[in-house]
Amino acid sequence: MRNKITKCLFPAAGYGTRFLPATKATPKEMLPILTKPLIQYGVEEALEAEIHTMAIVTGRGKRAIEDHFDISYELEHQIKGTSKEHYLTEIRDVITQCTFSYTRQIEMKGLGHAILSGETLIGDEPFAVVLADDLCTHLPDEHSSGVLAQMVELYNLYKCSIVAIEEVPEHKTDKYGIVAGDLMEGHDDLYRVDQMVEKPDPKDAPSNLAIIGRYILTPDIFDILRETKAGKGQEIQITDALMEQARQGKVLAYRFKGRRFDCGSVDGFVEATNYFYELSK
Ligand code: UTP
Repeated sequence: MRNKITKCLFPAAGYGTRFLPATKATPKEMLPILTKPLIQYGVEEALEAEIHTMAIVTGRGKRAIEDHFDISYELEHQIKGTSKEHYLTEIRDVITQCTFSYTRQIEMKGLGHAILSGETLIGDEPFAVVLADDLCTHLPDEHSSGVLAQMVELYNLYKCSIVAIEEVPEHKTDKYGIVAGDLMEGHDDLYRVDQMVEKPDPKDAPSNLAIIGRYILTPDIFDILRETKAGKGQEIQITDALMEQARQGKVLAYRFKGRRFDCGSVDGFVEATNYFYELSK
């Protein structure tokens, strides 16, 4: 087994029902914050963590993602040498630095199932996972690094699965996977997880530390997922599989430095749009 994180998996097969009708024929991951689609922000975050191999789990109606990370010869031909050419610089840069591979999740049986569908692209090595609808940004401090880069650094020290967490208001625990555990010695932001519950009622939640859409997973997660039965919402939950690793003390939860927008919800999407618009001025 390779012990370095070289691949990033993007589960992008969900229906995005909260954005209907926009997501009827357009993947949620292609919705733009200003001019850039959500999934490109995620790919750029992976690149910043020195990950260059992108593995994307898509589904029906998601072909636009593949086209986005490819050359559009017609467009290139049309705008080459014109004043508009610079609009393509950023995406061209991304395309030349990465390889992209795709597989389809045939039935939408949940995030755990989507990750298991990605096994064919990942193989027997640890990997990062980005849910592109959680958009993460640096702190406004030039020395800060992206969330995935922070997590890869921790992985290189501890060599086990890591989930990114943030505190959420107590009445919102039923929207997230919630973890609990003890702080690791010498850290004030890193926990060894001993409890993990998917979308608990506030009265049953073991804490208000919520998992957000960034993970580092060790490849034994695939065998565990194969055995994981459908849980909450009749979906195969990644939190149930992670709890299996946590029982052996092999999951850390990291309170990351940075800011995260829940762009899978309309409120979070608008908030991110306003934030990036202010930044761009
Ligand atoms: P969400 O819970 O946000 O579901 O999935 P969704 O379908 O994307 O959006 P709504 O709730 O209908 O509006 C979280 C992440 O897991 C992926 C989604 O693409 C998203 O990145 N996912 C979820 C899959 O890839 N497959 C699934 O079966 C479920």
